[in-house]
Amino acid sequence: MKIARNMACRVRRTGHGWTGFGSLHARSMVTELPYLPQRWEELALPTRRRIEDAKSMHPLFYTDAAYAQAERERIFGMSWFAVAHVQELAQPGDVKVVEVGTTSIILTRDKNHRLHAFYNSCRHRGARVVSSGATGCKQLVCPYHWWAYRLDGSLKSTPPAAMPKERKDDLGLARVPGLETFAGLIFLNQMPKPPPLRDTLGDLPEKLARYDLDEMHLYKHKMYDIAGNWKLIAENYVDFYHVDAVHPELAKFSRVDDHQPYQGGGQYVGFVTNPLTDCGGPGDTSRFNHFARLKAVESSSGLYFQIFPNVSLTIYPHSMFTMLTLPAGPDRTQEQLTLLMAPEAQKNGVSRDEHHERCEAWMKFFMEVNDEDVAAIENLQKGLANRDGRGMHGEFIPKYDWTVHRFQNMVLSGLEGHTLNEDYMPRLESAFEQMVRSA
Ligand code: FES
Ligand SMILES: [Fe+2]
Repeated sequence: MKIARNMACRVRRTGHGWTGFGSLHARSMVTELPYLPQRWEELALPTRRRIEDAKSMHPLFYTDAAYAQAERERIFGMSWFAVAHVQELAQPGDVKVVEVGTTSIILTRDKNHRLHAFYNSCRHRGARVVSSGATGCKQLVCPYHWWAYRLDGSLKSTPPAAMPKERKDDLGLARVPGLETFAGLIFLNQMPKPPPLRDTLGDLPEKLARYDLDEMHLYKHKMYDIAGNWKLIAENYVDFYHVDAVHPELAKFSRVDDHQPYQGGGQYVGFVTNPLTDCGGPGDTSRFNHFARLKAVESSSGLYFQIFPNVSLTIYPHSMFTMLTLPAGPDRTQEQLTLLMAPEAQKNGVSRDEHHERCEAWMKFFMEVNDEDVAAIENLQKGLANRDGRGMHGEFIPKYDWTVHRFQNMVLSGLEGHTLNEDYMPRLESAFEQMVRSA
């Protein structure tokens, strides 16, 4: 694969660890990435096998600051990752700030409707320019000495002194090199010349072809501050094995054994629930209009995708929930849960107020599911901290845990600057996949 070769040649082995030529910041084209911790290969090896012989990732990957730092620099520093919904920056003047560890990034939409991403550091003395999101912004003004930047990042004024135009032209905000959109989400890449996002997604765009994810209406989002490692949130998301134990209400229409793989090659983990069981709940398939172009089999299915590394898409025939995570520390993660509705979800004969109530009930249901997940994740973090240092890896049951095994191997490959090696992943053709193809 082109990207794997490109990335691999940026990373070289030294006598005492891995170093690489990648860059967290556009301004430095060649930056030495930090070493991976000394024992990393030894601790990673048991997970990097076929699932029948593999062990789950060592607890240190979830508790140790050195591993967390390496992931932020190497995974979030070298891979595409999600930061926002396009709809959050729908209008010129919309601004959002996101934090990846200590790296702060400003997202803007300028007056020409173009999206931008900049490092949140003033070109004068380096102060943080923007502290929170806003709407209707005309310019970004640094609070320290009032240097003002346009929403396209260019330096506008340095009051009260004037500065020659030629000099100002060189002093725009430093741009994050890669910005692309997919499935209505904004993705960034901090590598100086990143490969196209779609090169990493394999057949996922094809699987989503009949879902109009770019046209959806953002209904609401909620932020969570979770006392758990960011990987545990992704792993919990792809772990359908816990549904019956942790989510009694969800299990009424989405049981453990209703899940099937929906997985091709690419930097994602995918599975489906088919058929969805209507149970008189707020997510019943009859409560909203569906995406207009779905095949019949898709109209009775729930799709679940974790796009590596940090965003999940839960896609029902009428709506999508996303969970977007950004690591704050080894045991701290910021999560954004968002509900988006299909373009024409409001049914004929249903008033606007009634439609709103239906959306609200659906959001409330999912927040309750998420509260159950957050409790499970925080409990898992505590358990991993407890066995930290005892050298105890976890176990896999292949029928259920192939999703976690796949995600963990994407993490380990990402730390080396590669995409996943599919050769030792299981072949997972499912009845659902065949039904979609033949429908
Ligand atoms: S540091 Fe921003 S204006 Fe001085
Ligand atoms: Fe869950």
